[in-house]
Amino acid sequence: MNNVTVITGASGGIGEELAYCAAKAGRKLVLVARSADKMKAVADKIVALGAPAPEIVALDLGNPASGEALANTLKQKNLKVFELINNAGYGLAGRFEELDAADQIGMVDLNVRVLTDLTRRFLPEIIEAKGGVMNVASTAAFQPGPNMAVYYASKAYVLSFSEAIWYELKGRVRVTCLCPGPVPTGFSGRANKGQDLRLMKLSMTSADFVASRGWERFQRGQRVVVPGVLNEISTTLAPLTPRALTLSLASRLSR
Ligand SMILES: NC(=O)c1ccc[n+]([C@@H]2O[C@H](COP(=O)([O-])OP(=O)(O)OC[C@H]3O[C@@H](n4cnc5c(N)ncnc54)[C@H](OP(=O)(O)O)[C@@H]3O)[C@@H](O)[C@H]2O)c1
Repeated sequence: MNNVTVITGASGGIGEELAYCAAKAGRKLVLVARSADKMKAVADKIVALGAPAPEIVALDLGNPASGEALANTLKQKNLKVFELINNAGYGLAGRFEELDAADQIGMVDLNVRVLTDLTRRFLPEIIEAKGGVMNVASTAAFQPGPNMAVYYASKAYVLSFSEAIWYELKGRVRVTCLCPGPVPTGFSGRANKGQDLRLMKLSMTSADFVASRGWERFQRGQRVVVPGVLNEISTTLAPLTPRALTLSLASRLSR
């Protein structure tokens, strides 16, 4: 039986960079996303690094049967999950009442339900292998976000859930919640999110930096990782700041 590191949302952005980090560390990878062609390009780069060829599983994780389908595929290939990286996710910018209802429910589904389902489903194998779970949240997890209300709330769930299971599983499984600030990936385009604010640009970090910092801290079992000094400062201050001020600042950042 082969132990693998499963990465969702590995066809681009932060997930792609996490795949390179894991491959460089010698992991056998399973890449999951909808775009098979983009994952093939990622897999080719990984092979060029001299790492084992990753398995590619093209799945729409928004499909309620996708967790079962992924588990069956791994079983058929005789693969057991050692590490699970729940990275697939998206955001939508706009007022709650104006954004499409189905798109917003789909976001809760991918960012929350799928992450919870995959973690629960593969946890017995991960415990047995003394492996780890990394969940990708956001600096958005630390405060409510007007103009991106559902996204911020979904990431608050990811942070709360991850910290709680970190506690439950300590000494048996590494659990890390990676909380990036703004990163130039496909995320902003899908979210229809402007990034013209100075603070946003100042706190921006590359996908490469976020992934390498996240991977390194995940290996040490760090509970929460916030890459970038400004992001660390803002997430430390957020819970100490009056809620009315946080709401107004977050609203400006999400415009
Ligand atoms: N970029 C930022 O500013 C930022 C900041 C904080 C947190 N994050 C979080 O970081 C994570 C990665 O985002 P990113 O910035 O790398 O964005 P991205 O470049 O848009 O990547 C998103 C990944 O998720 C996959 N995905 C989306 N919908 C899917 C579905 N239904 N089924 C399977 N895979 C799906 C995409 O692949 P396919 O399209 O091929 O399916 C892609 O690989 C997300 O959880 C995001 O919330 C991003």
